[in-house]
Amino acid sequence: MITISGVSKSFNGNLVLDGISLHVPAGELAVLMGLSGTGKSVLLQHMIGLIAPDAGSIRVDGTEVIELSERQLLLFRRKMGYLFQDNALYDFMTAGENLAFPLKEHTQLSAADIHTKVGRYLKMVDMQGVENKFPAELSGGMRKRVALARALIMDAKVLLCDEPTSGLDPIRSRDISKLIRDLSKKTGCTTIVTTHDMMNAFRIADRAFVLDKGKIVAQGTEKELKASAELFVQEFLQDQ
Ligand SMILES: Nc1ncnc2c1ncn2[C@@H]1O[C@H](COP(=O)(O)OP(=O)(O)OP(=O)(O)O)[C@@H](O)[C@H]1O
Ligand SMILES: [Mg+2]
Repeated sequence: MITISGVSKSFNGNLVLDGISLHVPAGELAVLMGLSGTGKSVLLQHMIGLIAPDAGSIRVDGTEVIELSERQLLLFRRKMGYLFQDNALYDFMTAGENLAFPLKEHTQLSAADIHTKVGRYLKMVDMQGVENKFPAELSGGMRKRVALARALIMDAKVLLCDEPTSGLDPIRSRDISKLIRDLSKKTGCTTIVTTHDMMNAFRIADRAFVLDKGKIVAQGTEKELKASAELFVQEFLQDQ
């Protein structure tokens, strides 16, 4: 479903991704782990064509992303759910308006159907009743839930979540991680979550990838990673 082969990317001579290859089968939830600044967000942004690689191939649901024109990219992104590290909710719109926005822009649904769908998606993330609240009136965990509902509302086939637990307390982090897992399985989305929150990562992941110095240095299940001989992986796991 998502297959990345030999992707490299430098910014101003600084090599961030150095021949990354990874595969996530349809319907699976993969976690991408690595220290801050190792390129997790950069790799995720390649998958929706926000950043073009210097080399390599990015295939998502049968589409070679790097071959898409700007216009095709806009269409392609509609089936991609993207939960941004900072949520990227519109501050000047209520939670309900934030969810309705992509439906108004990109579908033929009637106002009544949009209203119903928004209510259904808010309920799915346990946020029923917050339609008329602005993001500033919600807590960090609540904003994350609203942003997650918005990421899924266009019936996304792929869900990409960038650091969904950063800035949340341990309980909220566990809840949001579990919610991502539940919704990913319920909707059948192929899902990638970036994080340095190891405990929650293993709680939800079907498989994990560890990124270090531009390369995937280990991958597999929790057990496989813990058995990895790679020094960085051992240090990384120990420090959690
Ligand atoms: N648009 C850009 N232009 C130039 N450099 C960039 C750009 N985006 C990212 N970088 C650089 O790429 C590197 C990786 O950044 P990235 O944000 O992907 O790290 P990360 O693993 O997501 O970190 P964190 O865990 O803190 O979110 C950093 O050195 C960053 O400065
Ligand atoms: Mg990041």
